[in-house]
Amino acid sequence: MTKEEIVNAFITDVKAILADEGPTDAGLRQIAERMKAITTEPALTETPEEFGNAHDGKGRQSRPLYTDETGLTLVRARFPPETNTPIHNHGTWGVVAVYAGKDRMQEYRRLDSGEGEGHAEIAFSAEHILGPGDTAIIPHPPQDIHAQQGADGEVALEFVLFGKNAMEIPRLYFDPEARTAHYRQLRHGYQTAGTRT
Ligand SMILES: [Fe+2]
Repeated sequence: MTKEEIVNAFITDVKAILADEGPTDAGLRQIAERMKAITTEPALTETPEEFGNAHDGKGRQSRPLYTDETGLTLVRARFPPETNTPIHNHGTWGVVAVYAGKDRMQEYRRLDSGEGEGHAEIAFSAEHILGPGDTAIIPHPPQDIHAQQGADGEVALEFVLFGKNAMEIPRLYFDPEARTAHYRQLRHGYQTAGTRT
């Protein structure tokens, strides 16, 4: 199958799961199970394309593999071992599936009753080391708070499926010591096809 066929088959199945279950815990677990299968598709995982993540400030986040008017968006992300991402959210649920390297996923929970920026109290909740074929569910906002970094000296390469287009909507960045959060809109969510910035 081509890259496009693999993505289309995956998205078709995801939409069927969402139609049956909605983005409930059970629905997201089913999506995570389905997402494992695309981590072993060479047409998707063996890519010469350079890409980064939306936090590195270099505008190197690749174009989504899929997005549509419902907001459902599949992207690829790369997390090097040198730096952790800031603690952030995306304003939507997500499912992560690692296809190469190791990803240290740190989860945080929001303790105050707020959902937006300003005063925000968060606490570290859990840490998972994800290897190829491993998945993780990013829960619904406001509890979709996390940080990611390549683990054991390895660069983590993964697919992330978001319920909304997380490349377009503002995300919150958290400072646990100052007990604050602020919105940040990505300057260039991703590069357009055929261009390099
Ligand atoms: Fe993230």
